[in-house]
Amino acid sequence: MITLSINGEPRALDVDPSTPLLWVIRDYAGLTGTKFACGIAQCGACTVHVDGKPVRSCITPASAAVGRQITTIEGVNDGKPGLHPVQQAWIDEQVPQCGYCQSGQIMAAAALLDRIPSPTDADIDKAMSGVVCRCGTYPRIRKGIKRAAAVIAQAAPLGTDNG
Ligand code: FES
Ligand code: FES
Repeated sequence: MITLSINGEPRALDVDPSTPLLWVIRDYAGLTGTKFACGIAQCGACTVHVDGKPVRSCITPASAAVGRQITTIEGVNDGKPGLHPVQQAWIDEQVPQCGYCQSGQIMAAAALLDRIPSPTDADIDKAMSGVVCRCGTYPRIRKGIKRAAAVIAQAAPLGTDNG
């Protein structure tokens, strides 16, 4: 038995602590928005946040997330109503094609904007490199991140330095 905090809720799960976090999230917690692709930390499809940082859940043992805050695509807007600005931007820019990689793309993009609210192209390339899209949606991903950054900047209280 292991207790994990997933999207702000404690979840007691009957699982071996060495099980990859990806399978705990999908098969035990029933949150299937996080995707399995390569299984060897090479693609980013399985990206979730642990304490706000992007993590490849396919190679992260569940035990490494005990006592930490796990956020999946289902909870990316921190329990607030509506969509996260990145999710809305993804719709507005029609980013996804097949969609399989996009949960990981959105989680990586949201973590980037938490860290750097107004990222440069270089910041985007660095943060998103290695989050693979077989459909080649990279130009729209970049546009989506910039749109979300603009929305976040507009929503920021006056005097907030978004760097
Ligand atoms: S499935 Fe985890 S990095 Fe590819
Ligand atoms: S949208 Fe198809 S793999 Fe990215």
